[in-house]
Amino acid sequence: MINAQPEIRIVNTATDLFQAAAVEFVACANQAIAAWGKFTVALSGGSTPEGLFTLLASGSIPNIPWDKIFFFWSDERHVPPDDPESNYRMANEAMLSKVAVPAENVFRVRAEEKDADAAAREYEQTIRMFFALRPGEFPRFDLALLGMGPDGHTASLFPGSTGLEEASRLVIANWVEKFKIYRITFTYPVLNHSACVMFLVCGPDKATILHEVLENPQSGLPSQRVRPTDGRLIWLLDRAAATALTQQVTSNPVRAS
Ligand code: 6PG
Repeated sequence: MINAQPEIRIVNTATDLFQAAAVEFVACANQAIAAWGKFTVALSGGSTPEGLFTLLASGSIPNIPWDKIFFFWSDERHVPPDDPESNYRMANEAMLSKVAVPAENVFRVRAEEKDADAAAREYEQTIRMFFALRPGEFPRFDLALLGMGPDGHTASLFPGSTGLEEASRLVIANWVEKFKIYRITFTYPVLNHSACVMFLVCGPDKATILHEVLENPQSGLPSQRVRPTDGRLIWLLDRAAATALTQQVTSNPVRAS
């Protein structure tokens, strides 16, 4: 299977980016629910997605079928769910606590577990059960939301980390040397098995690294290695993040508003 070409979409502001991301989120949800009655989404962490989560929970986007959406996380910090660093906590405060999603549809990483590897293995088992996977099979999330750090990392797959080479596990505890912490993260096989991966990248501090990821095939940066083998890859960018991109990348016919 050849990897689909990335769909590069550049919008003017971060607000436009959240609006476009919400439209894509609902479109993916409706498509999945029409096909098999539910929508599985892996949320990203960090700060960028908070604007999307807030918009989705605002009530201004009609007909979101919350009861048919199943939430997972593509990565989590090794902290309790009420910790300011927790990706679950951010998503819960910005969205999940404000909408009619059944509690049993929310699958957070139990990152309060002292042993990060145990937390990763437990989450892996949760995913295996939910998707009824046979040994060696990978889950196919309908949508995986991702962000990108200024070093080119995505999820918690950081440059130089051992997790970059993981080819069989679904979820691992990945040691992040620069922060001297473990993080629990999806591996590339899971991300690249998704039906759709959507990166949300905004702000001028991402411009240089984004040029490397999207226009320098030799960069080998973690975000560049996310290429769904049989799915869509969308890079949703605001203009500030896209300033270092050259014409050939941004002339992609799929480019929207
Ligand atoms: C995390 C994320 C991480 C994030 C990038 C971008 O747990 O931090 O999963 O991969 O997406 O670091 O973060 P910002 O959106 O805050 O720039």
